[in-house]
Amino acid sequence: MNPRNNLRLMLFPHPFQGHMNSMLQLGRILYARGFSITIVHTNFNAPDPSSHPHFAFRSIADGIDQSEASTPDVRGLLALLDVRCAAPFEECMREMVSPRGGGDAAPIACLISDSMFSFTSSVAQRLKVRALVLRTGGAAFLYVATLFPVLKEKGHVPVLGSRSEEPMKEFLPLLVKDILTVDPQKPESSSGVIINTFEELEHFDLALLREALPVPFFPTGPSHKFHVASSSSSSLAEDRSCISWLDKQSPKSVIYVSFGSLAALSKAEILEIALDLADSEQSFLWVVRARSVHDPEWLEKLPSRFLEALEGRGNIVKWTPQKEVLARPAVGAFWTHSGWNSTLESISEGAPMLCMPRFADQGVKARYVSDVRRIGVHLNGGLERENIARAIKRLLVEREGEEIKERALAMKEKASVSV
Ligand code: UDX
Repeated sequence: MNPRNNLRLMLFPHPFQGHMNSMLQLGRILYARGFSITIVHTNFNAPDPSSHPHFAFRSIADGIDQSEASTPDVRGLLALLDVRCAAPFEECMREMVSPRGGGDAAPIACLISDSMFSFTSSVAQRLKVRALVLRTGGAAFLYVATLFPVLKEKGHVPVLGSRSEEPMKEFLPLLVKDILTVDPQKPESSSGVIINTFEELEHFDLALLREALPVPFFPTGPSHKFHVASSSSSSLAEDRSCISWLDKQSPKSVIYVSFGSLAALSKAEILEIALDLADSEQSFLWVVRARSVHDPEWLEKLPSRFLEALEGRGNIVKWTPQKEVLARPAVGAFWTHSGWNSTLESISEGAPMLCMPRFADQGVKARYVSDVRRIGVHLNGGLERENIARAIKRLLVEREGEEIKERALAMKEKASVSV
């Protein structure tokens, strides 16, 4: 560990789990480089200070109540957080930069905020504090998002939510249906962008970004692999029993199924996934978050065909220590929603992916995994019995799966070099 350098960084993570993880990981890296770290966080999904004893924590009152916090409308909640956090954040920052406000603390050298908040750069400007933003979604998606307004002007952009299989000529190999969101943020309004990716993985996309935008880009490396003072950043309780269960399974025999911290599943989707897993004849570890299903009796209502498979070769948990899960030899494939953290974690462990994007940036990520890096299979046809059975076979049984695994392991090697 380097000696303390008497400079304090103020980190302001977005409270969604995938975003919180990236910021806390960045904090660990910067702490190891000698900076003091203060995490300013919302009350909603607050991190646990006891898991990060080296950081100072300050909370801001976001005013999000129980019913607002549990809404399935993720976009609505995002917008609400952006509006409600602006004033309390400014007040907190003003206090921290005032001569008395920091107490004994070192002065704030820089603010690093999640790019999902729209107001932080202007607050920092008003208070004359240097500011960087953290992009938690990697370079390729940001580049696509950067060109979106131009394409829109030319009338080339698709209608969001389109299921069109047409290729997007400007962004091959993306298909029109891969664009699940239009990212409204403007990275050029900050003085620099820290980006949760690594050069060896996204060298090409980083080069395009550097050419396109007049701000410096700093890739973090696969920050979850950085082990100094490593600890869990999860706000949900991890069920560790799945690790000993995994260790009893044969190598590469288990499909790990998880769709991140936000996506909800309908009754029909739960049923389809259950039957797909039953028919796959493979062992499986399935994460079903408490808030991702609405019916508390969903499990009992599943057909006996699935319940027998579960009894014999399956395991369902509410939340796992995912990075550890992906590193277990038993995991043969990761059925994922293609969130960026999950994608990076999978790449870092050489686990081939079955990609089923749900919303936001996930469509672009899934297409890159399947068609550009070729370290996974895209469930193009969505949740359809034959489609899934075919994809699982391709990954776990056929020769193609071995080639995918070889490429995934080569990528893992690059990731570990870049840590
Ligand atoms: C969201 C978006 O979906 C994603 O596309 C965007 O890039 C970041 O914000 P989320 O949906 O939660 O995030 O997905 P992801 O980015 O994959 O993050 C999920 C995190 O939760 C991962 O770090 C993963 O390790 C963790 N996790 C997931 C667990 O620790 N345990 C689990 O059981 C499941």
